Amino acid sequence: MYRCPKCRDTGWEEVEGEDKRYSFMRECSCGLLDRHKLKMQGKLKFAAIPKEFENLTVDSFRTDCYSTPYYRELAQMAKEIAKRYVAQFQEIRETGKGLYFYSSVKGSGKTRLAVSIANDLIRKMVQVKFATTLQILDQIKATYGEKKRTDDEIGGSEQKLIQDIISVPVLVVDDIGVENVSSWVNERFYNILNGRMIEKRITIFTSNCSVEDLKLDERIVNRILKMALPIEFPAESIRILCAEKENGDLLDRLIGK
Ligand SMILES: Nc1ncnc2c1ncn2[C@@H]1O[C@H](COP(=O)(O)OP(=O)(O)OP(=O)(O)O)[C@@H](O)[C@H]1O
Ligand SMILES: [Mg+2]
Ligand SMILES: [Zn+2]
Repeated sequence: MYRCPKCRDTGWEEVEGEDKRYSFMRECSCGLLDRHKLKMQGKLKFAAIPKEFENLTVDSFRTDCYSTPYYRELAQMAKEIAKRYVAQFQEIRETGKGLYFYSSVKGSGKTRLAVSIANDLIRKMVQVKFATTLQILDQIKATYGEKKRTDDEIGGSEQKLIQDIISVPVLVVDDIGVENVSSWVNERFYNILNGRMIEKRITIFTSNCSVEDLKLDERIVNRILKMALPIEFPAESIRILCAEKENGDLLDRLIGK
């Protein structure tokens, strides 16, 4: 039984043309598509993906820009893993396993690929949130500045924020390892990541160092190893290489080689 028999809950209805020789599809008046779009917009807004990476998908991640065969191989491997991760997300989700993209070089495409996975998952109606580690820490600190009377109230809103971060189904934690580590930072990260691990929530990390080299508390490092599969990225900045390649391609097109 369909809720909307006109479009059979697809959002599209078939309409016959005037002379009945042809038919075409149009958005059904039940508004299913509009509701779907609204829901997607809500998810996109919640995700807070930086403008630079809006709408970028795993498919358009380039592997031809890196300069050596080995780097291209690493990039192809990372891209293939990302692709399969998205395709098999419903099953992988049960395992709670995320990914950890790392490379010592800045601009190698780690955030680009992590965000592309996020964008692809949002299209599958998964709730995703993007945040750098510094944003997470700043948000926590901001709860201290709110006007409250008692210590309990202060602790309460910090706890609530941390609980909110724990409960996001897929969290992209960008640039872990850049923060100055203190016992305060360790405690917050521990609470967030331990909570997410216990609840088997998916976390996708990007970092400039391998998991083992993170300066965070050992308990956190252990948990990250448990929560995510480390994927090495090329030690090469693609920012400039990609721009040069694009300019070259454009020049070829313009002068008709
Ligand atoms: N493989 C790629 N295909 C297309 N564009 C890319 C690729 N890799 C990187 N870029 C572009 O290069 C820029 C830098 O990439 P990105 O921010 O992902 O690097 P990063 O590894 O996260 O760097 P950092 O360590 O500084 O955070 C971005 O504008 C991104 O869109
Ligand atoms: Mg980055
Ligand atoms: Zn309908």
